[in-house]
Amino acid sequence: MKRIFPVCIIFMLSVFYTSYGQQVQDIEQKIESTLLKMTIREKAGQLNQLDGRGIHGTIEELKALIKDGEIGSLMNITDPEVLNDLQEVACKQSRTGIPLIFGRDVVHGFKTMLPIPLGQAATFNPDLIKEGAKVAAAEATEHGIKWSFAPMIDICRDARWGRIAESFGEDTYLTGKMAVAVVRGFQGEDLSNAQSMAACAKHFIGYGAAEGGRDYNSTYIPERQLREVYLPPFREALNVGCASIMTSFNDNNGIPATGNKYLLNNVLRKEWKFDGVLVSDWGSVIEMIKHGVAEDDRSAAKKAIEAGLDVEMSSKCFIRNLEQLVAEGQVSETTLDNAVRNILRLKYRLNLFNNPYTNTGNSEVYSAKHLSIARKIAEESIVLLKNESGILPLSDKITSVLITGPLADAPHDQLGTWTMDGETDKTQTPAKAITAMYGNRVKVHFVPGLKYSRDKDRSKFDEVLKIAGSADVIIAFVGEEAILTGEAHCLANLNLQGAQSELIKQLESTGKPLVMVVMAGRPLTLGREIEQSDAVLYAWHPGTMGGPAIADVLFGNAVPSGKLPATFPKATGQIPIYYNHNNTGRPATGKEKSLDDIPLNAKQSVLGHSSYYLDIGSDPLYPFGYGLSYTTFEYSNLRITNDSLSYLDTLNISIDIKNTGKYAGTEVVQLYVTDVVGSVVRPVKELKDFKRIELNVKELKTVHFHLPVSDLAFWNIDMQKKVEPGKFKMMIGTNSQSGMEAYFEVQ
Ligand code: BGC
Repeated sequence: MKRIFPVCIIFMLSVFYTSYGQQVQDIEQKIESTLLKMTIREKAGQLNQLDGRGIHGTIEELKALIKDGEIGSLMNITDPEVLNDLQEVACKQSRTGIPLIFGRDVVHGFKTMLPIPLGQAATFNPDLIKEGAKVAAAEATEHGIKWSFAPMIDICRDARWGRIAESFGEDTYLTGKMAVAVVRGFQGEDLSNAQSMAACAKHFIGYGAAEGGRDYNSTYIPERQLREVYLPPFREALNVGCASIMTSFNDNNGIPATGNKYLLNNVLRKEWKFDGVLVSDWGSVIEMIKHGVAEDDRSAAKKAIEAGLDVEMSSKCFIRNLEQLVAEGQVSETTLDNAVRNILRLKYRLNLFNNPYTNTGNSEVYSAKHLSIARKIAEESIVLLKNESGILPLSDKITSVLITGPLADAPHDQLGTWTMDGETDKTQTPAKAITAMYGNRVKVHFVPGLKYSRDKDRSKFDEVLKIAGSADVIIAFVGEEAILTGEAHCLANLNLQGAQSELIKQLESTGKPLVMVVMAGRPLTLGREIEQSDAVLYAWHPGTMGGPAIADVLFGNAVPSGKLPATFPKATGQIPIYYNHNNTGRPATGKEKSLDDIPLNAKQSVLGHSSYYLDIGSDPLYPFGYGLSYTTFEYSNLRITNDSLSYLDTLNISIDIKNTGKYAGTEVVQLYVTDVVGSVVRPVKELKDFKRIELNVKELKTVHFHLPVSDLAFWNIDMQKKVEPGKFKMMIGTNSQSGMEAYFEVQ
């Protein structure tokens, strides 16, 4: 028996690999025979991606282009009938019969909107996020979308950048986990399944580091940082088969990403063996002219294809120039063929040649299952930042609440940025949900006070304050409108907009318990308003089911477990601010004087010489990983099995976590490691693992982490990825700033 078991496994594995190998070979053969039938113009056509909303012509005009083999993929068509009609032209009327792929930015849900990705990251729950991505894929594929331009896995350490909303935050490890979850959720077990769609990891690369947090701006990321911080999530996405990658708008160190041969060809194709599709961002080929690295659209096309780009989104440089560039020997036909191979490979993997049409029956859109997954993600994304004197959850003794603030009933805004298909009449807002779900327990008064986040009209404040006087508790929904976040929507000032701060101030002056719920697409600088509030929930833009999720958390039907995926600054002047910055030679000591304590006519040296701001210090408002619960958790008994390890070993760590409070709850236990001495300066610490642990009241669980020593490798002084022997510090804690520590050695 003992011998039969491994033999069976080897046999099964060899059958699996043989049939997988056969499938790969079949696809490659089909690609070659398709290529043989194609003219140069038809090849260029496969690389041409246009938009179906009228920007690039009417549907009839698009049909004519499809018939002539001049379009390989289309974006932004979601009417299955139109889409099937266009597909029929491609399959039956074009000479090659090659099907189209239809793409769309399915960034955080299709119809059922999930929380924005930054909120999703706050769940620290990749399994749940994968379920969310499956919901999106089921609804999008039902509408014929087989290619989603997501996940966006740009690392972002600057909340001024509007697209932080679309990111998974500041951390490479967490972003990598979320990338894997979304890719798996979108692509399913097999890309050829009806409910699978191709993922597109974007933006390659460094886009989130836009200088000054201003969109499309240049980046200056040196290679070591690129490889340590920005590239790994892409590698993770590719490790689980991510079908495509999108290049970014920015130039890094002077080279626009779409024309960066070293990164696209050498790193992605040669080093990482990527055989999927590399698509440009919208117009990023032609924008190389504005960048000033191409004279005209012909030289932009040459630059992009030679750098390794396959598909050009929207700007038509390829279709206008590739045929002639090849005819003149300016671009080799092999280069063109390689790009065409990649797009054909995706079409074969998606099984579009056999199954090109969309089946319009059996809708799962807004199904109970989808809504409940969206609600669960929204619930787990909510971060409890403050809960003074345990005002939350609202006790049974509370008989009346005042709901106020511009985000309490804002069906459009709570859906967040990149809501292309979500419908506001399906949004469940907090004002409506609280009334519907808890209206029989408490008397609910709703007076918004302000119409929208930028509203400066204070004329309704008196009415709000009058009702506040008779309510047991005030719940103020503040934050930012969806339009203030997302692409090209950057802000230099992260305070609350309009008269919202004034509203909070006046509410505080009533002396009534004040709960502030923030709905926003980024960390806002809310120090003052948080001080004025008794409790604060950060709910991000929570999507379709945000209302019920928030209501449950307020009334104790759910216990918050979200943790911050990005450091919250006290003021924008602290940005960029992130937990895993490099060690400086003069870190802040905590003994620095504040502005008020500086003596008059003080000598230069009296304040010491450390790395901090005189007016605001160097600590953030809240650190990465921060988030409270209604209950409390006690960490004890940290053990490591072996404090002296070699490269091939695994560090086994255990810690006891006890629920010492009054509610059952979930804790996200976080493992950070510091490489004490390196050949180059290392980050102060780095997240290496995390686990979500559910604990009943008084329950104690031992949590185990298994950290392979190889995970401690970094790009050393010789630009080799190695683990350097020496001392390491490990911390397990409830956020990036507090936990239990231990040391170990790598030999
Ligand atoms: C964005 C991409 C997006 C594309 C297509 C661009 O402006 O940067 O992320 O996928 O538009 O909508």
